[in-house]
Amino acid sequence: MTNLPKTFRVKSFGCQMNVYDGERMAELLGAQGMAAASDGEDAELVVLNTCHIRERAAERAYSEVGRLRREDGSRPMIALAGCVAQAEGAEAARRSKMIDLVVGPQAYHRLPAMVAEAATGKRPIDTDMPAIAKFGALPRRRRSGPSAFLTVQEGCDKFCTYCVVPYTRGAEISRPWADILGEAGALVDGGAREITLLGQNVNAWSGNDEAGRAGGLDVLIRHLARIDGLERIRYTTSHPADMTDGLIAAHGEVPKLMPYLHLPVQSGSDAVLKAMNRSHSADTYLRLIERVRAARPDIAISGDFIVGFPGETEKDFCDTLAIVDAVGYASAYSFKYSPRPGTPAASMEGAVEAQVMDERLQRLQRRLAAHSLAFNRATIGKDLTILVDRKGRLPGQMIGKSPWLQSVFVETAAAIGELVDVSITHALPNSMGGVLRPARVAA
Ligand code: SAH
Ligand code: SF4
Ligand code: F3S
Repeated sequence: MTNLPKTFRVKSFGCQMNVYDGERMAELLGAQGMAAASDGEDAELVVLNTCHIRERAAERAYSEVGRLRREDGSRPMIALAGCVAQAEGAEAARRSKMIDLVVGPQAYHRLPAMVAEAATGKRPIDTDMPAIAKFGALPRRRRSGPSAFLTVQEGCDKFCTYCVVPYTRGAEISRPWADILGEAGALVDGGAREITLLGQNVNAWSGNDEAGRAGGLDVLIRHLARIDGLERIRYTTSHPADMTDGLIAAHGEVPKLMPYLHLPVQSGSDAVLKAMNRSHSADTYLRLIERVRAARPDIAISGDFIVGFPGETEKDFCDTLAIVDAVGYASAYSFKYSPRPGTPAASMEGAVEAQVMDERLQRLQRRLAAHSLAFNRATIGKDLTILVDRKGRLPGQMIGKSPWLQSVFVETAAAIGELVDVSITHALPNSMGGVLRPARVAA
């Protein structure tokens, strides 16, 4: 390969941070004069921005690589990015000859330079985790959809025994205040009306404001709320250990902070939580939820669950069902435990049989779906504001997000990015329908 690619495509898998990173990589390549390939067009460079969280996610990266070979035997330049790139490094390039460069999540500001190297026939690999974060090297943001992601914190020091993230994303770092405020302002200028602050442990964010005063995520949120044109603020993902009094209070006091909290619990069994190194018990988690609800009674709680962690008994699993009922989650993600290379849990005894795991996952998902439906049904008859973010399938139909992050279908002439008042008329487990409310008459 001797020519620099002129067109590219970035394909992101995994979490919202990968979506953010994918946008940033696209901006970097765009700044070098490369153009995003349009739908259906063959790109000359494909960046696979991968996820390593579960075995299936990691395998998907390699099957995607294989699929990039064209019928005539040619292929695009292939960059392996994201968490598989970080975890496997040079091993990935050995495993597939089709991979031209390997770049980890903390090194992707170097992607354009690495593409240039790969074009000369080298196979550059960069999985360094420099102390100076990549953020300073990224271009200023220009355009944004109505709902934007903004990474404020990255990495994880929690070391849950099942999880690869501390190894693929590195130690917890917080982006500096001015950097975040600058990017938020640029996103709003570029069209964003909602910003979701991202971090593997976003509520561990800490920094100093302009006056040099130290503060946590709540202080940052209060400051962001002053940006004109920014209507909604969200943040994800939080760890129960970093849910401070200040952040809980902000939920009751900052109107732009949406009533939604993703607070994974993983299991309802204290024995399993201990083996997972989660640093909370079922009881301390429940008391935390009570305090959050005291600050913001209508808040929607969402969570993550793992079934079949090594040693999980039927009794442990029933404790998980019990915590689901006690919290009444508005929404949730649930997974079968997947052993990950290099993590402590991968060598624990007491593997749960595949069939038992399947059955527990089904029971858990049925229970979670019932709670989502109950939560959604409770909003029937209510008036609320949605942020329109896409077109529906029917003519004239648009879809927007409620404050509680439900997808609401409504017939309206409103454009993407508008806030629209609707009355909710019906509810399904994963979406709701509504009708427009007449425009409010100014007093
Ligand atoms: N930092 C976040 C998200 C971590 S990854 C947090 O702490 O909540 C998202 C979810 O994937 C986790 O919450 C967990 O439920 C799940 N997960 C992580 N490792 C896993 C594994 N080895 N097997 C199955 N699920 C896993
Ligand atoms: Fe993984 Fe636990 Fe860190 Fe979340 S808190 S990223 S689950 S190690
Ligand atoms: Fe996956 Fe990495 Fe995110 S492992 S979940 S892409 S932090």
